Amino acid sequence: MYSAGCIWMLLIAVGCASVGLTQAYSALQDARIIAEYRRQLGLNHTKIARELVHRANWAAVGSISTNDVVNGYPMVNIISIDDNNLKGKSSGIIRFMLTDLDFTGPDWQNDNKVTFMFTDEQTLNCKNTNKDPMEPTCARVIISGQVIKVPENSPSFKQEQAIFINRHPAAANWIKVHAFYLCELDIQNIFVLDFYGGPHKVSASDYYAINI
Ligand SMILES: *[C@@H]1O[C@H](CO)[C@@H](O)[C@H](O)[C@H]1NC(C)=O
Repeated sequence: MYSAGCIWMLLIAVGCASVGLTQAYSALQDARIIAEYRRQLGLNHTKIARELVHRANWAAVGSISTNDVVNGYPMVNIISIDDNNLKGKSSGIIRFMLTDLDFTGPDWQNDNKVTFMFTDEQTLNCKNTNKDPMEPTCARVIISGQVIKVPENSPSFKQEQAIFINRHPAAANWIKVHAFYLCELDIQNIFVLDFYGGPHKVSASDYYAINI
């Protein structure tokens, strides 16, 4: 017959043995660490910034609120974006449409400071590779700058607007009904988070210079 004490000893022994086993060796965990290490060696922060921007149909955009209820708070919004050039390739130029009937429109005109956030999770790449969206290995690109309203009489205005509508067909209606206007981001700073150890700063000129 086992005494109660014996059963406890047995349970503890089994518990220790299983903990010991997982700590001793996990082929899966090793493979994951090696894959992550290899990935880190090959990280090209500038390229990651351009790729995330190009793949995204939208960005989360922060501005300094002018709304009566939350005046001075950071405000966020979802803004549809596109960086295609005439040939349908990535230009890196972030184009978007704003209206003064929404949050971001009045905010930038009061204090022209906005920040665009892109994450690899927008295309579910992190979920599909078992990464939490907040882990640094789930790549993130944070781009701050000033809004530039594209003048309607600029030579390329019509073409640029047509390219945007090509990716966001609903925009054709926004322009008619809610007085949306085409904008570009004048990039001041780019932070890229793609691994442990803090963000990398990428200059706007390096960002625009590469071909992806
Ligand atoms: C990053 O990638 C771009 C585009 O492929 C390439 O032009 C550039 O040289 C790469 N930079 C580094 C540091 O590898």
